[in-house]
Amino acid sequence: LQIQQFQHDLISWFQKEQRILPWRENADPYRVWVSEIMLQQTRVDTVIPYFLNFMEKFPTVAHLAGADEEQILKAWEGLGYYSRVRNLQTAVKEVHAEYDGVVPADPEKFGELKGVGPYTKGAVMSIAYNIPEPAVDGNVMRVMSRILLIEEDIAKPKTRKVFEEAIRDVISKENPSDFNQALMELGALICTPGKPSCLLCPVREHCKAFGEGRQQELPFKSKK
Ligand code: ADE
Repeated sequence: LQIQQFQHDLISWFQKEQRILPWRENADPYRVWVSEIMLQQTRVDTVIPYFLNFMEKFPTVAHLAGADEEQILKAWEGLGYYSRVRNLQTAVKEVHAEYDGVVPADPEKFGELKGVGPYTKGAVMSIAYNIPEPAVDGNVMRVMSRILLIEEDIAKPKTRKVFEEAIRDVISKENPSDFNQALMELGALICTPGKPSCLLCPVREHCKAFGEGRQQELPFKSKK
C-alpha cells in the first residue's frame, strides 16, 4: 500500500462527496459524542431528527448533566437501547463534575467513562480532537478487510483489535478526523455489504481485494 497516496485519495474524496449531516456542522466534542452514541445501533436517517431534537433540548454537557432522567428518556423514545442514554448521562455528569464540563482530549481518560467503548473512544477523539485513534465498527471492518485483504473472522470479538492495529499503521496523522469519517462514508456509500460499487471507489487502485477480484468474499464472517 502506498500509504500517503491512499490517505490523500480517501480524504479528498470525503471532502468532496460527504453527505451533509447535522453532526458534521461543527466538531464540538459533546455533539460528536451524542451523535456517535445514537449512530451505534441506529441508522443515519433515523438518527437525524432525534439528534436535532436532543441538541435543542440538551445543547451542552451542563444541560444534559442537569436534566431529569424522565426528560432524557422521552427524547430517546423510539431509538431503543435505553441504557445508551442512561450511560451517556452518567458519563456526562462525570465530565461536568470532574473535568469542568470539558470532554477530556485524552483517549485513556475519555475511554474510562461509562458507556464509552473502543469505537466511541476512537470516533470522538479523532473527529472532535483530531487525535489519530482508530474507530472500528462493523462498517470499517468491512472496508478495511477489503482494502488490506484481512481475512480474520469479524464474528470473533478479538478481531477488532487486529483492525485497530492495522489502521494505526495507515491512519493520517495530519487529518485523522477526515480519515476515519471517510472510512465510515465509504462503507455507507460505496464499499457496501454484498456487491460494492468498486467502479466508483476513490481508492480501488489501493484495494487488495479489488486487485484480486475478491471484494465480494470479504469480510469473512463465520456463522457462530
Ligand atoms: N456512522 C457512525 N458514525 C458516523 C458518522 N459520524 N457519520 C455517518 N455515519 C456514521
